[in-house]
Amino acid sequence: MNATLKLLTDRASCRVFKNKRVPAAVVDKLVEAGIHAPTGGNLQPYSIIKIERPAARKKLAKLCWQEFLAKAPLHFVFCVDLHRHKRWARLENAPYSADRSLRPFWIAIQDTIICAQNMCVAADALGLGSVYIGPVFDSMAQIRRMCRLPKGVVPVISLAVGYPKVKPPRRKRLPAALLAHSEVYREPTDKELLAAYRKRYEGVTQAITAKDLKVLDSACRVAHNAGFAEKCLKDVKTRGNFNAPQIVFGLHYRADRMLRNTPKQLRMLKTAGLGWAGKRGDTCADHQMTNS
Ligand SMILES: Cc1cc2nc3c(=O)[nH]c(=O)nc-3n(C[C@H](O)[C@H](O)[C@H](O)COP(=O)(O)O)c2cc1C
Repeated sequence: MNATLKLLTDRASCRVFKNKRVPAAVVDKLVEAGIHAPTGGNLQPYSIIKIERPAARKKLAKLCWQEFLAKAPLHFVFCVDLHRHKRWARLENAPYSADRSLRPFWIAIQDTIICAQNMCVAADALGLGSVYIGPVFDSMAQIRRMCRLPKGVVPVISLAVGYPKVKPPRRKRLPAALLAHSEVYREPTDKELLAAYRKRYEGVTQAITAKDLKVLDSACRVAHNAGFAEKCLKDVKTRGNFNAPQIVFGLHYRADRMLRNTPKQLRMLKTAGLGWAGKRGDTCADHQMTNS
C-alpha cells in the first residue's frame, strides 16, 4: 500500500508514552509540517503553543481532567489567532473586523485544526504517537491565562505527543457506505442505520446504577421532556442495561450539559475577544468604544 495511505489508515490515538523527550529538531519538523497546511487565503490565522515544562504539563492535564496527559512529554495547544492579524492591520493602517464577525472565526477554526492534523500525521510519520485533547475549550479561560494568550487568541484543541510505549490498536469505524455519499445525501433506512451502529458499538453496554439513571433522566428532561425521560428509562429497565447511544449522549457527552453550558461558553468566547459571541448589539457598541 502507498506509505501515506498506510500511515493514515493504520494510525490510532496514543495515550501511553515512553519517558523520553522529543528532540528539538523533531519538534521543528512537526511545526514545519503544521505551518505548511492549507489555510483560507493562506492567512494562517493560528498560533501553536508548545508545552514541555513538567509543571505546565501537569497543569494542562488537570485543566483537561486527564491525568495521563502529564506523562506526555510534549503538548501543542492550537489557537485561533486573530490578534496577530489585528496588530498587522493596525501597524499598516488597514481596516480589520475579523474578531467581530463569525465567518472569519469559522474559517480560522478550520485552518487551525487542519494545521493540527498535519502535525498529528507528521508525528506518526516520525515514529511518535499523539492524541487530541478537546477540553481545552472548557478550560479556555485558565489556559488563556496559563499561556498568556492576548485577546483574540483562542485555544481550540491540544495535541499530546510522545514516543508510544506500545503501538496503539486501530479503532473501529462506521462503514464508508454510511458516511460517504455520492452527489446527494442518501438517507439510510432505519434498519441499515441501526445495523451499522450496532456493529460499530458491538458489546458496548453499561450496567444500571441509580446514579446513572438519575443522570440519564436529567439529560432526557433537559434535552426533550418528562415524557421522553419516562420512555427512555423504561427502555433501559426493560433491556436491563444502558445501550450505546444512551451511554454516549446520556451519560458521557451529556445532552443536558450541552444545552446548559452554551451561554457560558459564548461568554467565554466573548471574554476571549470575539465580539460576535456577545448579546445582539454588543458587538457594535464594543467596536465604537474601542475606536472612540
Ligand atoms: C476533537 C477531538 C477531541 C478529542 N479529545 C480527546 C480527549 O480529550 N481525550 C482523549 O483521550 N482522546 C481525545 N480524542 C481522541 C479520540 O477519542 C479518538 O480520536 C477516537 O476515539 C478515535 O480513536 P483513534 O484516534 O485511536 O482512531 C479527541 C479527538 C478529537 C478529534
